[in-house]
Amino acid sequence: MQRILTGDRPSGNLHIGHYFGSIKNRVKLQHDYETFIEIADVQALTDNFDNPEKVRNSVYQLVLDYLACGIDPKESNIFIQSQIPEIAELTIFFSNLITVSRLGRNPTTKAEIKQKKEKFGDNGESITYGFLGYPVSQAADIAIFNADLVPVGDDQLPHIEQYREIVRKFNSIYGETFNEAEPYLSNNTRVKGLDGNNKMSKSLGNAIYIKDTPEEVSKKVMSAVTDPNKIKKDDPANPDVCMVYYYHKLMENPNVENVCKECKKGERGCVQCKKELIEKINEFLKPMQDRRKYYEDNPELVEKIMYEGTMNARKQAKETMKQVKEKMMIKYFEDVE
Ligand code: TRP
Ligand code: SF4
Repeated sequence: MQRILTGDRPSGNLHIGHYFGSIKNRVKLQHDYETFIEIADVQALTDNFDNPEKVRNSVYQLVLDYLACGIDPKESNIFIQSQIPEIAELTIFFSNLITVSRLGRNPTTKAEIKQKKEKFGDNGESITYGFLGYPVSQAADIAIFNADLVPVGDDQLPHIEQYREIVRKFNSIYGETFNEAEPYLSNNTRVKGLDGNNKMSKSLGNAIYIKDTPEEVSKKVMSAVTDPNKIKKDDPANPDVCMVYYYHKLMENPNVENVCKECKKGERGCVQCKKELIEKINEFLKPMQDRRKYYEDNPELVEKIMYEGTMNARKQAKETMKQVKEKMMIKYFEDVE
């Protein structure tokens, strides 16, 4: 059976941008692949080393969101990165195989560095060694499981490219050891925000969360961006510039063709149109929130899922590290792994 490795930083709750961008794929693929899903707390700490409580609390929220979205603990191993020290070990060995200047050219890291410079108003003095190197640790995440497929959003493609370069180099120096896993993108990789922004994101404040209550959903949808030229209820409008229409499509509303026709003819008011969308979004979220509630009420079950997933992951990581150490000629003692 082929294998999937993927994951997320624990940094707040999952929103429907995450869901359509990659979680939905994982839910589908978990039946056909051996699946490992990493809660990347070590990676989250590269950005939040001074706020361990935030990372710690987000780990639990992320597990609940995964389970809510339909990640099935019988099919997938959900594990916590920090509990697999072998990943940190492999990161050190990988860090020899990539140059500092190549790390600086990674477009995703580059954009994050730009943001940090703006935020701190410095010229990069706030960029730590750990931050610049997190794609190396991410390469170790993927490699240690010898994954075949990595379902992610498109912002992760540069990291997967770097991972592929690193393992190619490892294989050429120390001998064939690692797969060159392929990324797996969804066709909805970027979900727009209700405000019309190209990307739904927590920092932009335009996200609908998996755990949002019907009231929160309603409030957000009511303030969504519609066709600005439509003033009166019976003005004809252009649904293609309206975020409400965009979300009707995303939610696969069976009535979507009517929404479009009526909007163009001026036979549909925006308030009614938004109310219909609110209903659709809440219907979509309901089964997820029911599952979330079940796990929230059974914390010992969640604990068990995290524990067992992590133990399975660690077993795999140990096996890989055994081979790595033999290939790198750093195996010295029979009784030391
Ligand atoms: N970088 C990813 C994010 O920001 C999280 C992540 C860590 C990851 N390790 C991974 C994703 C390995 C895919 C594969 O969400
Ligand atoms: Fe958008 Fe609906 Fe208003 Fe048309 S009627 S502009 S689709 S909210």
